[in-house]
Formats: sequence, C-alpha cells, structure tokens
Amino acid sequence: MNQPETLITLQAAVNAPNHVRHVRLLRWVREIASLTQPERIHWCDGSAAEYDLLCAELVRAGTFRKLNEAKRPNSYLAWSDPSDVARVEDRTFICSERQEDAGPTNNWMAPHEMRATLTPLFTGAMRGRTMYVVPFSMGPLGSPIAHIGVELSDSPYVAVNMRLMTRMGRGALDVLGEAGEFVPCVHSVGAPLAPGQKDVPWPCNKTKYIVHYPETREIWSFGSGYGGNALLGKKCFALRIASVMGRRDGWLAEHMLILGVTRPDGRKYHVAAAFPSACGKTNFAMLIPPRGFEGWKVTTIGDDIAWIKPGADGRLYAINPEAGYFGVAPGTNEQTNPNCMAALKRDVIFTNVALTDDGDVWWEGMTKEPPAHLIDWQGKDWTPELAKATGAKAAHPNARFTVAATNNPALDPAWDDPAGVPIDAFIFGGRRSSTVPLVTEARDWVEGVYMAATMGSETTAAAFGQQGVVRRDPFAMLPFAGYNMADYFGHWLALGERLATSGATLPRIFQVNWFRKDAEGRFVWPGFGENLRVLAWMLERIDGTAAGEEHLIGVSPRHADLRWDGLEFSEAQFAAVISIDHDAWQAELKLHDDLFEQFAQGLPAALTATKARLAAQLAARLAG
Ligand code: GTP
Ligand code: SPV
Ligand code: MN
Repeated sequence: MNQPETLITLQAAVNAPNHVRHVRLLRWVREIASLTQPERIHWCDGSAAEYDLLCAELVRAGTFRKLNEAKRPNSYLAWSDPSDVARVEDRTFICSERQEDAGPTNNWMAPHEMRATLTPLFTGAMRGRTMYVVPFSMGPLGSPIAHIGVELSDSPYVAVNMRLMTRMGRGALDVLGEAGEFVPCVHSVGAPLAPGQKDVPWPCNKTKYIVHYPETREIWSFGSGYGGNALLGKKCFALRIASVMGRRDGWLAEHMLILGVTRPDGRKYHVAAAFPSACGKTNFAMLIPPRGFEGWKVTTIGDDIAWIKPGADGRLYAINPEAGYFGVAPGTNEQTNPNCMAALKRDVIFTNVALTDDGDVWWEGMTKEPPAHLIDWQGKDWTPELAKATGAKAAHPNARFTVAATNNPALDPAWDDPAGVPIDAFIFGGRRSSTVPLVTEARDWVEGVYMAATMGSETTAAAFGQQGVVRRDPFAMLPFAGYNMADYFGHWLALGERLATSGATLPRIFQVNWFRKDAEGRFVWPGFGENLRVLAWMLERIDGTAAGEEHLIGVSPRHADLRWDGLEFSEAQFAAVISIDHDAWQAELKLHDDLFEQFAQGLPAALTATKARLAAQLAARLAG
C-alpha cells in the first residue's frame, strides 16, 4: 500500500496530472524543482488550447506581438535580447569522462567539474517563474526509431516552439508509460525574478552554458533562450546525444535534410544532404522544379536533421526526428523558396524579423523593394534610406521562423512514416567561393567519406562568431558531433564496410558547391530551383545512364552531361563553376593536412591513405 501513496505524494509535489505514473520522471522533476525553485510547475499536454493560452501569456509579457490576423493568421513575432541571437559554440561543452572522447574540436570539461560549475548557476535559477515540463518524441510517436526526451524549461517561448518542432505533450508521456527511457533536458534562461520584480521581454543571462553529458545522456542549458541553445530536442539531443547513441548502436544522427524526388517516369528516389548551418538545407528540401523540368516533383521529409538506420534489407533508412522547421528567414522569398513562403502564411512564430506598419513581417530579401518604414528587430525605426546610409539590417541575419511541417505544401507523404525512407544518395556541400566544383561524385564510399570529412565552408550568421572565413566543417557536423570527430569518421567507414560486406548497395556520395563566385563577387550558379539540374544528373549516375568526366577528386559532369532546357548557362559559365584549379587544390590539400594533424589521434588509416593518393596524383598533374 506504500506504492500508490508514494505516487500520489510525488505527483502532488510536482503538480503532475494523475495519469503521470512514471516514478523516475516524477522524482527527477522534483529534484530539478528543488534545485531551481520555480514558483509553479506546468505539465504541457501539447493541446492547441494550451498553445493558445501560452501564446496569449507571451503577448501579455511583451515577448510576443500578435501579428495582423488578416495578413498572417495565428502568428507571432518575438524579438530577442541583442546578446542572444544564435547558437554559442564557444559555450557548448561535451562533458565525457575522458577528454579524448570529446575530441579536439569540442569544448570539454570533466563532468564533476562541470557539475560543480553548473549547480550554483541553476540553484534558484527559476525563482519567480513557471517551470514547464515538456515531454517530446523525436520521431513518430511509438516508432522503433524514435526516442523520447523531457525538457524542463522556465521559458514559455521554448514550450510553444517545442510544440511546433516536436511531437510534444500527452502523446509522448503515454509512450513513456511508467518506466520508459527518456533523455532529461534541463533549461533555464538564468534570470530568476525577485518578489515583485518586473520581467523583461526576453530574459537571458550573460553567462551561458550548453552542456552535454554523453555517458549519462543528460543535457543542461543555462543563460540563453534562442534556437539550438534552448530547444533542446534539436541540436543537443537529436545530434549531439543521438550521435553518441548511434555510434554505440550502429546508426547515424546527421545534420541533413531528407527529400524525395520523383521523375516524370514515376520513379522516386530519396537523398539526404548535409550542408552547414544557413547553407541551403531548407531551400533544397523544398525545391520547386525549374522551367524545363515539368513533371518532376520534390517532396520534403526533413530540412535539418536525419536519423539513419540500416534496415533488414541492408539499405539505409532515414527519418526526420523533428516535426517542424526552425528556418533562416533572410533570403527566403517567392523566387528562392515558394513552398516555404506558402508554409509561412499562417501559424508561425517569427523571431528577430522586422515588423511592418500594418502588423506583418519583413526581412532582407523577402521582396525586391523594401517597405518605406519598418520597426527593426531591435524595436527601432528603420527606413531604406537609413539602411543605405548605415547598413542597418531590419531583420537579424539569423532571424528565424518556427512552423509545423504540416504547413509545408511539399511535405512528403512518408514524412511521418515510422519505417523511414530508403536513402539512394548522400550529398555534402559547403559554401565555397572557389576551388570546390559545382558537383563531384565520389568513386567509392571511402572517397566519399574523405570528401565529407575534409569539407570546408565559409562561416555564416547561424553561430555567434566571425562570418565569411573558411573553416573545416566535417560532414557539416563540426558543432554537432557529441564525440571525437576522428571516431565519427571511423564510424562512417565501419558502417559502409559492414553494409558492403552484407552485399547491400550503398548510397552514392556526392559533393556540391552552389556558391562559387566570379571576379565581381557574384554567385555564378543560379542555385535554388536550378539545383534540380544537378540532382537529376546524380539520379542518372545512380541508374548508370549519365556520363561524366573523371578528374583529381572524383567524377563531374561536362556541360553536355546536364540538362539545360529552360536555362541559358553557357559553357564558359559552366567552366567557372566546375573547373578544377590544380594550384588551388594544392593549397586546399594543405588545409586537409592541418585538419588531419588536428585529428592525428585515432584518424582512420583509410583517410590518410586517400589523402596520400590525392597528393601523389596532384603532384603528377602539376608536373605534367
Ligand atoms: P540551418 O537551419 O541553419 O541548419 O540552415 P539551412 O542549411 O537550412 O539554411 P537555409 O536553407 O535556410 O539557407 C539559408 C541561406 O542560404 C539563405 O541566405 C539562402 O539565400 C542561401 N541559399 C540557399 N540555397 C541557395 C542556393 O542554391 N544558392 C545560393 N547562392 N544561396 C542559397
Ligand atoms: C543551425 O544553426 O544549424 C540551426 C539553427 O539549424 S539552431 O537550431 O539554432 O541550431
Ligand atoms: Mn541546422
């Protein structure tokens, strides 16, 4: 008779509804509440009524502004604190027991040391606030590929965003049952309120810590309310913690979009593509076929994260663990991404875009002509004249929208399928103004892994730090691998070998670069919808029907190998995006050397061998 009493006492202690019978969960909530001392605890059920209520509260608190109901139904605008606008990579930590398990590219601190650092910060951190208990499923509810997390957060902004981004609420709790496994995620904006103290619209703390304990699978985030710092199901769980789980259990957690592409002959393929942050995943995942490609169709499974597991047939199957998009607003318009614009017509949370005089939103690149007057993301008057004179941006460059996947007109019918979709090709692409060609096919899996491992990209506004410098971003996972990157390369190689040995057909691997520039600094490749021309060539390569030319780093199409119906793109223009400059590649290989030196500990021999082969071939070409 002790047990039910314990349960009832526990439930009462944390204000849990009586259907919550998961004792470990209840005890953990009680433990975190006694540490952070919130004024009250709210268990999120994920209902529309709850969403509306929390949004109304956010409006009252000044965090949200309700947009014009006639122009943008059921939508809100939030402006963050100017110091809290992007992921903070230098404040992100992988706290494994051994430093070598975090590797040379992750910030590391010993778990006991980090706990000693965090405990005082979290003590009383939620005073005067509500602690939201946010249960969520990454992946379709009940899917064998899905995993459950519970985020405890003192941010109602986080709670409503999590409802759009994940399967959040009662359903996830039901899957958990009385003893299910979950990843515990603790989040505080780090801004406790003294009795009577007036809140600010965007509470946060100058001190920030985004912390992962891979061995115990815990996430602790302090001080930020923005994006991947605060929506802990996304980068923290679905990439950093999940990559560790995947390594142990033989699957992949990747920073990849997943799309379906159907040809006029009805044949459908699936590809997963890894581009670094703000390098075009959302755009590619929602692509609308260009002129000359009538009868083709591209459908979205996911725009940011893929969980990929080997199926019984030896093929790799991918699911999107998310249920919504947290996408970059600037640059999105009716030409570059019409599907996205359609998805954003209603039911959206916008963060750090500008407000128009009629209560709608605007961002750089949304329309050719900017409105004559706006309120910018910092609440100040903005005019095109002011922008010309001072360069002031109306929207922050990392301004984002949050919207449910179901708003996307190009949503793939299988997006919610627990079995996932079979992957035919992997694509890796960075933002490079020179050197890397428009598209290259790797000649085998190892060469593909080498390409992905040595990928570089010019940095963007999606992370706090310097913009526009080339940094190595292996697999577009540099900020997201939860363990040593050298071991991560080894995991990819081992998985490929295991599948090949079992007789399976491995996905092809391609590298792309939409971002080569001419002498005037303009993009040469038109990009966006036109990227389907490149994708179409890849599918023909898979079928064995497309020609190409072998060169130093793989196989690329010649001008005649792509379909140009509906686009004027001369041989000279094509040469500017596809050519291999051997001198530039000599400099590039030096950068690969630097990268490999950094990973000297544990770097797979297959990659060193590939590097040596490349260097020898390049030397021969430069001599000849
Ligand atoms: P995260 O959400 O940060 O992971 O990024 P993402 O990869 O989803 O980025 P997104 O699709 O939002 O890319 C945003 C930026 O890439 C915008 O500035 C776009 O204009 C630009 N972009 C996307 N596709 C292309 C393209 O094909 N060519 C060019 N030149 N720019 C592109
Ligand atoms: C990224 O930076 O790659 C994103 C946005 O997808 S965030 O969720 O903030 O990490
Ligand atoms: Mn991303």
